[in-house]
Amino acid sequence: MSMKDRFQGKDYLTLMDWKPEEIKYILDVSADFKRQRMMKQRHENLAGRTIAMVFEKNSTRTRFSFQAAIAHLGMQSFYSTPQTMQLARGEPIKDTARILDRYCDGLVIRTFGQDVVEEYAAYMDSPVINALTDLTHPCQGLADMLTMREHKGKLKGLKVAYVGDPWNVCQSLMVGSSLMGMDMYVALPKGWAPNEKITKFANEHAADNGTQMVITDDIEEAFAGADVVYANTFHSMGHKDIEERKKAFAKYQVNDETLAMADKHAIFMHCLPGYRGEEMTDSVIEGPQSAVFDQGENRMHTEKAVLALFIQ
Ligand code: CP
Ligand code: NVA
Repeated sequence: MSMKDRFQGKDYLTLMDWKPEEIKYILDVSADFKRQRMMKQRHENLAGRTIAMVFEKNSTRTRFSFQAAIAHLGMQSFYSTPQTMQLARGEPIKDTARILDRYCDGLVIRTFGQDVVEEYAAYMDSPVINALTDLTHPCQGLADMLTMREHKGKLKGLKVAYVGDPWNVCQSLMVGSSLMGMDMYVALPKGWAPNEKITKFANEHAADNGTQMVITDDIEEAFAGADVVYANTFHSMGHKDIEERKKAFAKYQVNDETLAMADKHAIFMHCLPGYRGEEMTDSVIEGPQSAVFDQGENRMHTEKAVLALFIQ
């Protein structure tokens, strides 16, 4: 089967489902879109298609980048929240999924549990695309890797240092790093850890590739010589223990001093939204090493590639 046919009609629920060469291909298609190649054959058949977007959590980047990508590809999106759908009065997901499937050629969904996106996928023939769950953020993972590749010219051999909530974004980055041959160091206070299943997957793939996947409470160990310093909020959407987290994570801030521990050519990345004065300082996000707005832009290019490849 040719590479481009491997994705058609499939779900995009986690990076764990894809091989390194398939991820590389999605990134290549994203880069093509970014260079504004029209690739008519890939998306002429998408004109007039419809994409449902159901978002149970707030979003700026994911919502608008998908809606822009959908419009650029000649498709139309319908955005809704579960609160304004009959889901709110208890209509089961399995009924909602089968109805949406009769109207739409794909579903982009942001929710809490990974089991929710899996249930939609089980009841829909059309592709289901994960726009963030508590477990993973695979669309962010693609944009992150495209940004690293653009700024550093490669993925293999890079050292990525991460601070922030060890959740969806971190976990997709752990999966992506372990598959694509990057070393990843996650700096966390003692007592905090990423999901066990993700950690096992990342450890096994890092071992196969001879790369590092390290969880450490030592920010110096994590940042030393890093090519990419990645920050994320200490308190993701849905967490109630915000003050406890801010206190526990406070010393894992990317500021001028900690950024200087990394390679002098390191880039600073953040999935955003970010909190100046918590996980990063204003000087870092606004500084010369910051790649965060390229990274935000790349959400649109990678999502366009996912739509063009997966939607039939
Ligand atoms: N990075 C990201 O997913 O941002 P939004 O929450 O604004 O979509
Ligand atoms: N970890 C963050 C990412 C937001 C894009 C959250 O879940 O809130």
